[in-house]
Amino acid sequence: MRRILIMGATSAIAEAVAREFARRGDALVLVGRDAQRLQAIAGDLKLRGAAQVEVKVLDARDVESYPALLDGAAQSLGGLDTALIAHGTLSDQAQCQSDVGRMLDEFSINALSVMALCTHLANRFEAQGHGTIAVISSVAGDRGRQSNYVYGSAKAAVTAFTSGLRQRLHGKGVRVVTIKPGFVDTPMTAAIKKGPLWASPPAVGKSIAQAMQRGTPVLYTPWFWWGIMAIIKSIPEFVFCKLQL
Ligand SMILES: NC(=O)c1ccc[n+]([C@@H]2O[C@H](COP(=O)([O-])OP(=O)(O)OC[C@H]3O[C@@H](n4cnc5c(N)ncnc54)[C@H](OP(=O)(O)O)[C@@H]3O)[C@@H](O)[C@H]2O)c1
Repeated sequence: MRRILIMGATSAIAEAVAREFARRGDALVLVGRDAQRLQAIAGDLKLRGAAQVEVKVLDARDVESYPALLDGAAQSLGGLDTALIAHGTLSDQAQCQSDVGRMLDEFSINALSVMALCTHLANRFEAQGHGTIAVISSVAGDRGRQSNYVYGSAKAAVTAFTSGLRQRLHGKGVRVVTIKPGFVDTPMTAAIKKGPLWASPPAVGKSIAQAMQRGTPVLYTPWFWWGIMAIIKSIPEFVFCKLQL
């Protein structure tokens, strides 16, 4: 049985991953802003087989509270060996371009809060000599595009940060998993027109749970996004500048 903390546990993707954990009989601490929704998810996960489910209400921007959050989670579950960081907001690119404060706020929630939590988890897991830290980044972080480069650059920061963290913790019993979903049909993307490249939260959730179990360093999900992003990254700047992406 693993003892797992999920930050951003009301996320549709995180909930799908949590269902996989529950089926395996793991113990969970769900962290998020919406107490009622967290309680509803906790009840469902218990019915699906979770050994224990606790709920902690916290805004991810409240980074000062992270050490107490981790202490409390470890105390509730009798230890902590796995974490999934899933919270995020799909930044409004146009608003971020006209309002620097908004842009900094978006970068803070999507990158800085994630990096802060990763740092606390890394130090804790390094000291105990084992653990898995999984972070949901995005294919959007592989190359900045005019339509969403504020969100994309925050995810790029998360991708680079977790890459370095993985190297730092190599050989210390701690695995770091960087997750790069493509388009997933969740509340975050409700306003975007869907097409053949879109995946469902259960499909993506299953691949994330598997990657966390195996300690896969970088997961593109669905897998074909590896190829799509390899092509996008290879386009020369002078061509890329002319594209409407
Ligand atoms: N959907 C996609 O196509 C896609 C693609 C690539 C990567 N991702 C990433 O996948 C992750 C999960 O997103 P999703 O698609 O599952 O969307 P979602 O269902 O809208 O989930 C977003 C989650 O982030 C939480 N959140 C936002 N700001 C927060 C804050 N300040 N403090 C605590 N929680 C906060 C939300 O909490 P509330 O319920 O309280 O609002 C919600 O649980 C995100 O990191 C997202 O960037 C998504």
